Amino acid sequence: MRTTVGIIGAGPAGLLLARLLHNAGIDSVVLESRDRAYVEHRQRAGILEQGTVDVLRAAGAGGRMDREGLRHDGIELRFDRKRHRVDFPALTGGRSVTVYAQTEVCKDLIALQLKDGGPLLFEARVDAVESATADAGSGDRPVIRYTHEGRDKTLRCDYVVGCDGFHGVTRTVIPDNVRKTYERRYPYAWLGVLADVAPSSDELVYAHSERGFALLSMRSPSVSRLYLQVPNGTDPAGWSDERIWDELDARLALDGDWALARGPIVSKGVLPMRSFVTEPMCYGRVFLAGDAAHIVPPTGAKGLNLAVSDVTVLARALVRRQRTGSADLLDAYSDTCLRRVWRAEHFSYFMTTTLHTDPDQSPFDTRLQISQLDRITSSPHAAAELAENYAGLTIG
Ligand code: APR
Ligand code: PHB
Repeated sequence: MRTTVGIIGAGPAGLLLARLLHNAGIDSVVLESRDRAYVEHRQRAGILEQGTVDVLRAAGAGGRMDREGLRHDGIELRFDRKRHRVDFPALTGGRSVTVYAQTEVCKDLIALQLKDGGPLLFEARVDAVESATADAGSGDRPVIRYTHEGRDKTLRCDYVVGCDGFHGVTRTVIPDNVRKTYERRYPYAWLGVLADVAPSSDELVYAHSERGFALLSMRSPSVSRLYLQVPNGTDPAGWSDERIWDELDARLALDGDWALARGPIVSKGVLPMRSFVTEPMCYGRVFLAGDAAHIVPPTGAKGLNLAVSDVTVLARALVRRQRTGSADLLDAYSDTCLRRVWRAEHFSYFMTTTLHTDPDQSPFDTRLQISQLDRITSSPHAAAELAENYAGLTIG
């Protein structure tokens, strides 16, 4: 089999790239190692930046998002038992975010691709990318070796895009002496739960407390998504439903009138926290996009949005190459993306370290965190910095 763009991975990055290329008349094949049900049901974040919403809409993938997504014009920062609102449109010239789960974005893109896009193969595991050379201009074309229906297969491509997430294989195509990685691990994780109960707040609540961080989020008007900072290595089985609600109650507690509504917890899981960037994001005719190239800790919900901005930039560059013969945007791909990636890395790191309690934290460190939160919630300049990063910069 051969194609113009071989896409490895059917997460949001791979699926959206296939859609953008299809819309521009460029053929692609998507290879995904998992089955469709797995991809459509794994729990991920659910906050779409303004720019992400605009891209999905323009790609013709925004119908259900526009009907079912919840527009949010701000978040609440809770600390010292008080609530403080950050108003996004007022601080950013009208930008906002949309609550619409990543699983739903994937379902919508999969349905579109299977209806009228190029091939999307599930249970097709890529074993290797071969014949990749540093020189995109040479005659050599990359080849993907994969396994499907028990058989070894080959896909010849003009370009290969690794959208295969943090554990993917594509990154290793870039030789060790070319590839640089940057990493930071955090001394805590998140326990995330999905609960069948209406969210107790109209907007997301990010809570700093001496017991650790808590986040109140949602999936719909009747489903809450909640997180607690927990030590690394935590077994979710050690957290009964009652213990989870009691701890959320304690960390979200306010002076004043507010109560956290409890309901049946339908899923529980622990998420690691890591920052990771690999540079460059390309090697000759092979490109990396999304989690394959970078990971952010989830505080601030940048992961999905970065995947979307990467593939938006890449699709534009591939279309330009096909239509005009110019490779200038492809050549600039890595630098263009990394600038935004490092901004999101900083923002996610900042949100994480400002809101969580480090096991080695001193009372001095806690005072600094409170001072920083106080600054954000009392100065429109400081608040605008958070709001711009949260609602997202323009893509490009
Ligand atoms: N062959 C085929 N597919 C593979 C292979 C392989 N060897 N290795 C990994 N994959 C698939 C995974 O099964 C997964 O479906 O690649 C896909 C990668 O998808 P994601 O992990 O969702 O990554 P991405 O599309 O970059 O989306 C980033 O996901 O982790 C979240 O918070 C992150 O929201 C962000 C988003
Ligand atoms: C989520 O709803 O899963 C979510 C929301 C905001 C975050 C992280 C995760 O910062």
